[in-house]
Amino acid sequence: MTTTDPAQIDRPEDDRLISIRGATLAYPTASGEPVQALDPIDLDVAKQAFVSLVGPSGCGKSTLLKILAGLLRQSKGDVTLSGTPLSGPSPHVGVVFQQPVLLPWLTILNNVLLPIRVQKRDVDQYRERARELLSMVGLDGFESRYPSELSGGMQQRVGIVRALVPDPEILLMDEPFGALDALTREQLNDDLQTIWAEQRKTVFFITHSIPEAVYLSDRVLVMSERPGRIVGDFTVDLPRRRTLDDVATPAFAELTSQIRHLLNAKGGID
Ligand SMILES: Nc1ncnc2c1ncn2[C@@H]1O[C@H](COP(=O)(O)OP(=O)(O)OP(=O)(O)O)[C@@H](O)[C@H]1O
Ligand SMILES: [Mg+2]
Repeated sequence: MTTTDPAQIDRPEDDRLISIRGATLAYPTASGEPVQALDPIDLDVAKQAFVSLVGPSGCGKSTLLKILAGLLRQSKGDVTLSGTPLSGPSPHVGVVFQQPVLLPWLTILNNVLLPIRVQKRDVDQYRERARELLSMVGLDGFESRYPSELSGGMQQRVGIVRALVPDPEILLMDEPFGALDALTREQLNDDLQTIWAEQRKTVFFITHSIPEAVYLSDRVLVMSERPGRIVGDFTVDLPRRRTLDDVATPAFAELTSQIRHLLNAKGGID
């Protein structure tokens, strides 16, 4: 386990899926004084990596995720996916937010097929995949139910499946489990490990929980207070598949403590 200056990370050029160079973002405001949310960000994310981002509230984490989702455009700098400049929302990128926002009048199956309809793809070709993914997260038998019949944890599973049905290369997750109780959160962390292992997605995951970040990730990035900069980049070399027993190991405790110390030095986590 090491901490490295992000600028010094040496990764093979062709292994990069996400590449961010000198990206900044300033939000315009009514007063005329822009809010500088991000200082220049330089970051490469390798294909199929699981990367988490932690940082103080309001430091710019969601802003960075929205840039990667194509929902916001950086004020300066370059953002590329597989070498192609990002120019808006892409079918190669799936997004999961804290609240799943399911349509109450659609069944679970139709909710998860909605992106396919919106992208005008052939729904029949994705029905089987949608059923398999629902089954993978323990929701078989719920295809014909409505969102109001599901618990919060089940609804969030549906939100994850909805992002996965179009088979995106990248999954962006903004505090996806923040609103859930601890037990459900542990179960969903386990589901997410399964999904990542079986679907081989590149995951960019924002969380306020350092143990959650370490448990799930290959790398944990630390962002400074606003304007956000990446001030730490920790490699998690704990073996996979991880279980809750790993959380109790000295290696796990040592890494979470290093990340916490850096965060506290850079403004705290909340
Ligand atoms: N649309 C906007 N207009 C102006 N300022 C904004 C806008 N959206 C976000 N900000 C500001 O930009 C900064 C970064 O916001 P962002 O949502 O990226 O933070 P965050 O790190 O995700 O915080 P949290 O952990 O609380 O979710 C904050 O100071 C916020 O007030
Ligand atoms: Mg946020």
